[in-house]
Amino acid sequence: MIVILNFGSQFAHLIGRRVRDMGVRAEVVPYDISASEIEKLAPSGIIFSGGPASVLEKGSPRPDKKIFDLGIPILGICYGHQVMAHMLGGKVVKGKQGEFGKETLLVKHKKGLFVGLSAKETVWFSHGDQVVKLPKGLVGTVSTKHCAHAAFADARRNFFGIQFHPEVTHTLHGKKMLENFLFSICHAKRDWKIASITEEIVDGITREVGGEHVVVGISGGVDSLVAATLIHRAIGNRLHAVFVDTGLLRKGEVAQVAGYLRKHGFRGLHVVDASKTFLKRLAGVSDPEAKRTIIGYSFIEIFEKAIKGELKKYRITHLAQGTIYPDRVESASTSTTAAKIKSHHNLTLPEKMGFKILEPLRDLYKDEVRKVGAALGLPHELLWRHPFPGPGLAIRIVGEITKERLEILREADAVFIEVLRKAGEYEKIWQAFAVLLPLKTVGVMGDGRTYEYIVALRAVDSVDGMSADWHKMPTELLEKISSAIVGKVRGVNRVLYDITQKPPATIEYE
Ligand code: XMP
Repeated sequence: MIVILNFGSQFAHLIGRRVRDMGVRAEVVPYDISASEIEKLAPSGIIFSGGPASVLEKGSPRPDKKIFDLGIPILGICYGHQVMAHMLGGKVVKGKQGEFGKETLLVKHKKGLFVGLSAKETVWFSHGDQVVKLPKGLVGTVSTKHCAHAAFADARRNFFGIQFHPEVTHTLHGKKMLENFLFSICHAKRDWKIASITEEIVDGITREVGGEHVVVGISGGVDSLVAATLIHRAIGNRLHAVFVDTGLLRKGEVAQVAGYLRKHGFRGLHVVDASKTFLKRLAGVSDPEAKRTIIGYSFIEIFEKAIKGELKKYRITHLAQGTIYPDRVESASTSTTAAKIKSHHNLTLPEKMGFKILEPLRDLYKDEVRKVGAALGLPHELLWRHPFPGPGLAIRIVGEITKERLEILREADAVFIEVLRKAGEYEKIWQAFAVLLPLKTVGVMGDGRTYEYIVALRAVDSVDGMSADWHKMPTELLEKISSAIVGKVRGVNRVLYDITQKPPATIEYE
């Protein structure tokens, strides 16, 4: 296993995914983990991630210095490189000129990380500070125009530092550098394989649950579906699934997901049609936070009612959740205090219900969840749906929600997605959906005047939803989508394409 110390980089999880893609187990841990805890994990190598701080600032993050005495190879990347140089006795200064973007690396010694590379390599930098004096015992191995010590090595202790980012695709041979570290230096084993992980998870569930009963909430999304399929594989019909139909899901979603589960022998599926309750409680509410709160507590109330009602006889002991790896690491980290922008709604039942929590996907990244799903035989179309927020279409109707508005939006969204799928564009996009702007404008159809709603289209490219860019789509395709929506959806006579990035806008409208 490789342990990655997270110094607050947006790329720490990307490093984790790259390592796992090479077949090696990876764990992202907080930077202040103690050396003895690392020893317990028995990693074959340690990576220090980058981070936004400067080692020259007082109070900037430092790893436990005993880590350097463990005898385990260490690779420092960007901030990790600087912190290593600084703690081992070198000198870091504020660079006169930072380096951001692509740079050419001059490789002096094709050893260690640089075996098999060329004398000149394109790499990606993003730093202000730089190492100007190396600690005793370390040798400089590469440089750039502005940075004399863009990498160092200590072949005796197996310490390596690189100022650039090998994990991003702009560093053309970054994968080779990571491979050199993992396999030639750390001698890591390639034992992270989807088929064996799937088996391990199923065995783990069997052991954890014993002969007891589990309940899981199906949201229509990928994670809960894969989690449910894994648990079903382990304990069969001692799994009970509650699918709350809020009436706020995408077109055909309830039927598609429920149909799939039933077809695959899932006898304990309970679909609760709560669409009327949600519509009634949301009537007259236009404030985004008020909508989110109403949906959150109504969802939990209905879920709880099902457990205490029709499922009571099974004496359920475990609640399964679709928590994935980044959710867990993010919520455990104490160093980030993000301002509350939106109260995201996920299913967290009150602790007083006293369930044991089962999280079969807790160690997986999203792409691995999809691979596990595929290994379990889930259809591609179900696995590759775009992310969908808990509050559903309610936060895609700006302002008040009515039955009529919901139907218009659901239809427009379905038309949008269908055209994207047919054009082969859907899987190039991270998330795409329609939004109803409850503004009426004048149009003309046939010989008549129309006075109808506006639909906004949102399609974004993103890695994790934290930041996003609007998706550059062929104009002919946009025109096709606009004609299809106005032609097929009654109540809409104008379509807009959203070209705002996040930040400053968010992905959803509320
Ligand atoms: P925003 O709108 O905050 O969205 O830029 C970022 C990503 O999060 C999704 N999202 C949610 N997911 N519950 C969820 O499970 C929520 O309440 C929620 N709100 C936003 C959004 O779809 C996007 O992928």
